Amino acid sequence: MTIDPAAVDRAITTRHSTRAFLPTPVPLPIVEHLLRVASRAPSGSNIQPWRVHVLLGEALAGFTRAMTTAFEAGMPEMPEYDYYPREWRSPYIERRRKIGWGLYSLAGVQKGDRAGANRQRGRNYSFFGAPVGLIFTIDNDLGRGSWLDYGMFLQNIMVAARGHGLDTCPQAAMMNYPAIVRSRLCLSDDVTIVCGMALGHADLSEPTGALDTDREDLSNFVTVHRDRT
Ligand SMILES: Cc1cc2nc3c(=O)[nH]c(=O)nc-3n(C[C@H](O)[C@H](O)[C@H](O)COP(=O)(O)O)c2cc1C
Repeated sequence: MTIDPAAVDRAITTRHSTRAFLPTPVPLPIVEHLLRVASRAPSGSNIQPWRVHVLLGEALAGFTRAMTTAFEAGMPEMPEYDYYPREWRSPYIERRRKIGWGLYSLAGVQKGDRAGANRQRGRNYSFFGAPVGLIFTIDNDLGRGSWLDYGMFLQNIMVAARGHGLDTCPQAAMMNYPAIVRSRLCLSDDVTIVCGMALGHADLSEPTGALDTDREDLSNFVTVHRDRT
């Protein structure tokens, strides 16, 4: 079977992290469809390490209220695991700053305006207004390879969403208050919260939607070996 390569490329390249959503609901069968399609992701020995909590309606409202209240009360964020390096260094620190400044400037937050930056960051905890919130967990006794499998599953959800005109934002922020997430979702101690994801219809009128993230040229990350060494 041949698949239109342009359509595949479009689904991948039109995926952006969306940080403002319309309240338009996404029917549960669509969410389930996306998860079913995404679960076609490969995994070592087909062990399928993903577990997903889908938050909708009142459950979503209660969850985002609890997370937002904690953030606004200044509760220290205690990430479930080190998603980011402990020590930032070049070239990663520059890339991180670039996206941070780009996002804050679109959100109207000036350099040095900590309260404004916090306000923008705090929007994470309401899934940026999305009608669907997803929380992903993995069993603690699985190996590092399963995290690789997990990334493929997450990317599949985001790309499949594009095929339905939907947008997403993967969110490490959703594991910043593990105690709240654990208690609201009744998680046992033998799982790790991987991340969250907002899913819905992008609010195209919102300025942060214009954030254009660039990518390095291939020459900066690809080495082609062709000659005999
Ligand atoms: C696992 C993961 C976690 C992320 N966590 C957050 C987050 O908590 N909040 C946020 O606004 N963006 C988050 N992002 C989005 C990244 O900032 C974004 O992917 C990157 O800047 C590239 O932009 P793009 O996704 O629009 O191409 C996350 C991305 C990934 C893959």
